[in-house]
Amino acid sequence: MNTHQKKIKEAAESVNAMREKVSGSHWKPAYHPAPPAYWMNDPNGFSYYKGEYHLFYQHHPYSTEWGPMYWGHFKSSDLANWEEAPLALAPGEDYDQGGCFSGSAIEKEGKLYLMYTGNRWTGPDHDKDLYQVQALAVSEDGITFEKLAENPVIDAAPEGDIHPYHFRDPKVWKKDDLYYCVLGSRTKDHVGQVLLYQSKDMIQWEFLNVAAKGEGNFGYMWECPDLFELNGQTILMMSPQGMKPEGNRYHNLHQAGYVAGQLDYETGTLSHGEFEVLDHGFDFYAPQTMLDPSGRRIMIAWMNMWESHMPEQEEGFAGAMTIPRELVLENGKLKSKPVPELGKRRHNHKYYQNVKVEGETSLTGIEGSAVELKVAIDAKDAGQFGLKLRAGHKQETELLYLKEERSIVLDRSLAGEGPGGVRKAETELQDNVLKLQIFIDHSSVEVFINGGEKVMTARIYPDQSSSGIRFFSDKPIELLEVEKWDL
Ligand code: FRU
Repeated sequence: MNTHQKKIKEAAESVNAMREKVSGSHWKPAYHPAPPAYWMNDPNGFSYYKGEYHLFYQHHPYSTEWGPMYWGHFKSSDLANWEEAPLALAPGEDYDQGGCFSGSAIEKEGKLYLMYTGNRWTGPDHDKDLYQVQALAVSEDGITFEKLAENPVIDAAPEGDIHPYHFRDPKVWKKDDLYYCVLGSRTKDHVGQVLLYQSKDMIQWEFLNVAAKGEGNFGYMWECPDLFELNGQTILMMSPQGMKPEGNRYHNLHQAGYVAGQLDYETGTLSHGEFEVLDHGFDFYAPQTMLDPSGRRIMIAWMNMWESHMPEQEEGFAGAMTIPRELVLENGKLKSKPVPELGKRRHNHKYYQNVKVEGETSLTGIEGSAVELKVAIDAKDAGQFGLKLRAGHKQETELLYLKEERSIVLDRSLAGEGPGGVRKAETELQDNVLKLQIFIDHSSVEVFINGGEKVMTARIYPDQSSSGIRFFSDKPIELLEVEKWDL
C-alpha cells in the first residue's frame, strides 16, 4: 500500500470511530449528502462515470472543524439515494501537504480524472502564507485514485495583475478536441476574477486570459468558478467572497451566483450581464454543476456558510449538501428545479384541496421533519400569509409572504439552536397564487418558489419533536392544493 492509500486508510479509521455517534444525531440529514462523521465543505468532482453519479467533497476526517482537506466521496445511481464510497484523496505530497482543495472531475479515455488545488502553507497566516498549484489524480474504477507523477500540472499563477498565491478550484471541461479549465483568482489588489486555461492533454496547460473580473461591489476573491453552456449562452458561476450587503441581497458572509453571456474562446474573455445570486437563503456556497447523460445541467452546493455556527458539530459532524437542482435558463435568468428523481423517495402521501384558512391552521397528516411539501396558495385579499415549518414548543421556521412588498421572508429566528436571522426575496404572485415546493430535512429547509424562480435555503436546528407544519394568514386565503410526502 502506498503512502497515499495509507493516509486514506488512517482517515477512514478516524471517521469510523465517530460514525455511530453521528448516525444517532436527530440533525443528521435523511436524504441530503452529509459526511458520515466530521467536517464537510464544497462539493467537488460532481460527475457521471461508468453509469453512476459521483459527488466528492472537501472533507476533514479528523475534526468537526475545517483542517487539512481530504476528498470524501459519495456515489449514486439516481441522484436520490447516495451511497458512501471510500475517501478519494488525502494530502501529503510536497505540493498538497496543506490540503487537497476544491476541484472537479472529467472522464478521459475511460478513466476518471480529478483536477484539484494543492495547497501548501508557507507560514502562519492562512490569508497570506499560502502557495497553490493545480494537480491531477486518476482512477480506473471511480473509487481508488492515484496522483499523477507529472503533478503539479499548473505550478504557478500566471504573470500579470493576478495574485500569485490565491489561485484555486479548477473546473475542467472539454470542447471539441481541447480541455479547458477556469480557476478562482483575485488581482494583486484583491478584486475577484476568473482565469481561463486550455490544454491538449490536461498535463500541459496554457493560460488564455482573465475570462472575467469584478467591477464595483463584486468581492475580493472569486472562489469555485464553474463555466458551461446553457441554451446557447455561457454561464459563469462563482462564489465571490466579501460582497457588501445591498438591499435584500448579499447578507451572507460570502455569496454564490452567476453571470450569463458569451465566452469568446479566441480571446478567452467573457462578455456578460449582471450578477445574480443562485439562492436567497442563508446557507448556500460553492455550487458545482455537471452535465448528466440526458443533457441536464445539475447543480449541488454546500448547504452551509463559512463562519456560521453549526450546532451539529457537537454531534460529531459538520456540513451537508443541497439537493440536486436542475438549472434552466428562461429569459436570461436561471431557475433551479429539484431533480424529479427525488420523487423516488416519496412515500406516505397526504393530499388536500381547497382548504380555507384564516388565523392559523394545521392539517392532519401534514407534518414531518424529512418531507417534501407542495403548496399552491390563493392569496385572496390577505396582506400577509405563510407557513410555519418544523413547528413545536416555542419553535418554528417561518415563511411569510408580504403582499405589499411583493416579497417572501424566511425567518429562522425561532428555529431552534443555531444562528437565527431573516432573509427576504422579491417574489411576484402568479394570478394571486403563491406556489411553493419545500424540502425539509432533519436540519435544513429548501424552499423553491414559483417553479424555482427563487430558492431560499437554510440550515436549522430544531428539537426532534418540532415537526409541525402550520398555515396562517391575516385574512382568509385558500390552500388550493397541499401535498406532502415523507422522503
Ligand atoms: C471554498 C473554498 C475553496 C477552497 C476550499 C478549501 O469554500 O475556500 O476556495 O478550495 O474551500 O476547503
